[in-house]
Amino acid sequence: MYSDKVMEHFMNPRNVGEIEDASGIGTVGNAKCGDIMRIYLDIDKNTHIINDVKFKTFGCGAAIATSSMATELVKGKTIEEALKVTNSAVMEALDGLPPVKVHCSLLAEEAIHAALWDYAKKNNITIEGLKKPKSDITEEEAIIEE
Ligand code: FES
Repeated sequence: MYSDKVMEHFMNPRNVGEIEDASGIGTVGNAKCGDIMRIYLDIDKNTHIINDVKFKTFGCGAAIATSSMATELVKGKTIEEALKVTNSAVMEALDGLPPVKVHCSLLAEEAIHAALWDYAKKNNITIEGLKKPKSDITEEEAIIEE
């Protein structure tokens, strides 16, 4: 059902954790499955390069694998490059996902966008091409903070 790459990232997820004083934090969830993903970005204000990225995911194996891969794909990239890391790019890098798990990769894309949105808001800047992310997960957010 899952590719070797998905299994590998699920068993050994990269970039798990938090960043203290992160430049931007994005939390998104899916009300239907109840999974939640939070991404922390450390961005260089001058170069706009993502120096570090960490995640915390309270969710299914595919959500963990997509978080892991998404963080790997944006690390060391500029904000503009990170915006191009779509859920399709994440899925491709993982050699695909079963159709019922496609939304897990959407969560990863959205969590990165949410973290970039937070960064832009904190710094009073506009990131070209970045739309306001959907992150309405008030109830679920409490779980990850426990
Ligand atoms: Fe919903 Fe994976 S089942 S994020």
